[in-house]
Amino acid sequence: MAKPKSLYKCRSCGHTSAQWLGRCPGCAEWDTFSEENSPQGATKGFDYSSGTEPMPISELSTVEGVRFSTGIGELDRVLGGGIVRGSAVLVGGDPGIGKSTLLLQAMGSLADQSHRVLYVSGEESPQQIRLRGARLGVLSDSLIVYSETSLEKVFKAAESVNPGVIVIDSIQTVHSSEVESSPGSMAQVREVSAKLISFTKKRNIPLFIVGHVTKDGSIAGPKTLEHMVDTVLYFEGESGHAFRILRAVKNRFGSIMEIGIFEMREEGLAQVENPSEFFLAERPEGASGSAVVASLEGTRTILVEIQSLVCKTAYGIARRTVVGLDLNKVMLLAAVLEKKAGIVLTDHDIFVKVAGGIRLDEPAVDLGVIGAISSNYYDRAIAEGTILFGEVGLAGEVRAVSRIEQRVSEAEKLGFKRCILPKDNLKAFKGKAGKGLKVELVGVATVAEVIEKLT
Ligand code: TYD
Ligand code: MG
Repeated sequence: MAKPKSLYKCRSCGHTSAQWLGRCPGCAEWDTFSEENSPQGATKGFDYSSGTEPMPISELSTVEGVRFSTGIGELDRVLGGGIVRGSAVLVGGDPGIGKSTLLLQAMGSLADQSHRVLYVSGEESPQQIRLRGARLGVLSDSLIVYSETSLEKVFKAAESVNPGVIVIDSIQTVHSSEVESSPGSMAQVREVSAKLISFTKKRNIPLFIVGHVTKDGSIAGPKTLEHMVDTVLYFEGESGHAFRILRAVKNRFGSIMEIGIFEMREEGLAQVENPSEFFLAERPEGASGSAVVASLEGTRTILVEIQSLVCKTAYGIARRTVVGLDLNKVMLLAAVLEKKAGIVLTDHDIFVKVAGGIRLDEPAVDLGVIGAISSNYYDRAIAEGTILFGEVGLAGEVRAVSRIEQRVSEAEKLGFKRCILPKDNLKAFKGKAGKGLKVELVGVATVAEVIEKLT
């Protein structure tokens, strides 16, 4: 009798091979191949269908009708305006970041709106969940808690509870007896997820899956899982900081630009209603090297402080240390400052940090970095009540950015008096919305001009 052939699969990208390989040809990662136990059965087709017929696009019902609110505005925002019926949402993040807390609170809120919720936990006992639930104030009769790791039992429970929403916390702890691999393995995670998704899609109920992040920073069984679900959310935060950011990295039902901001408190996660105030709360007034930028995060503008220290290099090569921004961006901006504004930085260490631990990726923060570095270099504080924004090009030019009205009005709301912005933006802005402003607008065209206008 022929020996059944083994199949090897990359844990990172899902590439399969008939033999073990040291390096994956799919994603070029080393030592990611492991043997799959059920070579034939593993990729059985799953039925994700919702039982619809082919139809003209104009006659399809819209997504809006099938959404409902979680009661937590920040979560709704990241989901694209609430939960979509029949959608599968993966929530990833570091252990202890607050995934279980977030979902328990959201489910408590749904239960309060008389949705029936099945919360399956493979990690905590019912007593532990009850304790946490009491603290979070989510003790509702509609919130059904089930501590179980067997997928078959979960399905049985779901049949009898008949929930409107299902949460699986976490996918790595649930296993199916039909798969031989050990719980938490690639094959298990994939099979269990596929079965769960097909189960909930058929019944048109939303499914939340909690996934742990592996040490290389991706959700275990990453690519396959991310392909299978409709939405992937990451819950992030710096250890030592109370605030948490919920970010969509994939969303079939909404924008991936939106972020949700929370603060971890004694009594659970609180929504941060006014993020700018939150991020500027501890700003040192009159300190050199501190600049406030208006950064666009999704549909919102957030004012954030960028801090910089520029010190003479003691020995060896000058260092650049960056927290909360792209290191290459900062190196590039330092080179522009050196070449176009005559600030010699090659013999200086540069440290740049975004205060509060948030990460900024928007081009408009360039001007903030320029402001912070040059302010500390000259040891002159930026004039009080000033904010900056604008993209910087390699020729030292300051380029226009989008949504000026929104940025300026956020600055005005928080009592800022002066706004340094790209000259091209200023021209367009003055034409329409710029009347009756309490903020002085200062247009700049070059990096050298920015430095002149800082103090
Ligand atoms: P948890 O939701 O268990 O994280 P995850 O499911 O992502 O692993 O969050 C655990 C942390 O949150 C824990 O270190 C304590 C903190 N926490 C609070 O500060 N306040 C609270 O009300 C709760 C429930 C947790
Ligand atoms: Mg947890």
